[in-house]
Amino acid sequence: MSLALPPGARVPDRLAWLNGRLVSGADAALSLYDRGARDGGGIFETLRINAGQPHEWQRHMERLVLSAAELGFPVPPSPRRLREALDELLAALSLRDAVARITVTRGIAGGRPTRTGCWIEAEPLAGRLWPGTRRGTGTSVMLPHAFSPGFVGRHKTTSRLAWDLAREFARAEGVDEALLVDKDGFLLEGGASNVFVVRDGEVLTPPLSRDVLPGIARALVFELCRALEVPCREADLPAGCMTWALEAFLTNSVQEVLPLSHVQGRALPETAIGEQLRAAYRARVLAGA
Ligand SMILES: Cc1ncc(COP(=O)(O)O)c(C=O)c1O
Repeated sequence: MSLALPPGARVPDRLAWLNGRLVSGADAALSLYDRGARDGGGIFETLRINAGQPHEWQRHMERLVLSAAELGFPVPPSPRRLREALDELLAALSLRDAVARITVTRGIAGGRPTRTGCWIEAEPLAGRLWPGTRRGTGTSVMLPHAFSPGFVGRHKTTSRLAWDLAREFARAEGVDEALLVDKDGFLLEGGASNVFVVRDGEVLTPPLSRDVLPGIARALVFELCRALEVPCREADLPAGCMTWALEAFLTNSVQEVLPLSHVQGRALPETAIGEQLRAAYRARVLAGA
């Protein structure tokens, strides 16, 4: 069965894994009765694949399974089944350094037995790296309106319009990322990243209690800081912190650790701790940990 497409529309013809089998992009059709298609009722994981191996697989699976349970989703495929499917897809696409996305939808309401829908996509890494990631330092602006994620902000859901628009704002401004600030004036995260600032030798990041995503790379930075004996903790950060921060960096599973050279046009004086963490993160990836 082929997709009914609007005139002029093109879908990528790359293979994808959908509900148990490999299909071409053009045949990768989701029912319009699936709550993932109609209502943004889906959760997903975006993983970096290094030399054919997904980085931090276990943590990504934990977040996916936890979100599915907390949001009352039907039962998703088991992590073992998802790993087999991912390996099958990577092999079919001959991809070694890549970005994979695993999406689980709430499925069709009222079905028995109730199962989620699920698909996996993968594409070469190179096309997904931000200009700043390729350069080694990134740039960002503050989103000019208050952002209120609500409790869904703690989950990686497909209800992404507000975050996607923030990302598009960043692109239109010619920077890597837009930083989100809540109505009380506190820094939250980036449109697709977590944010850290450095003050008096301490690494600080907004608390999860502000409904930011518990990023996988964020969690890793906490671990790396511990290993490097760099103090690191959650702290409420007023948006104005970017005027006094000595340095700041972003984290994301694909971009890894990205030290910021500029925020809102201001050059940050230093990048040393961000660069140290970026190197430590890379070393961990290369060690296959
Ligand atoms: C809103 C938001 N915050 C943070 C992150 C970083 O999460 P992770 O480190 O798991 O990639 C992402 C990733 O896309 C995101 O969309």
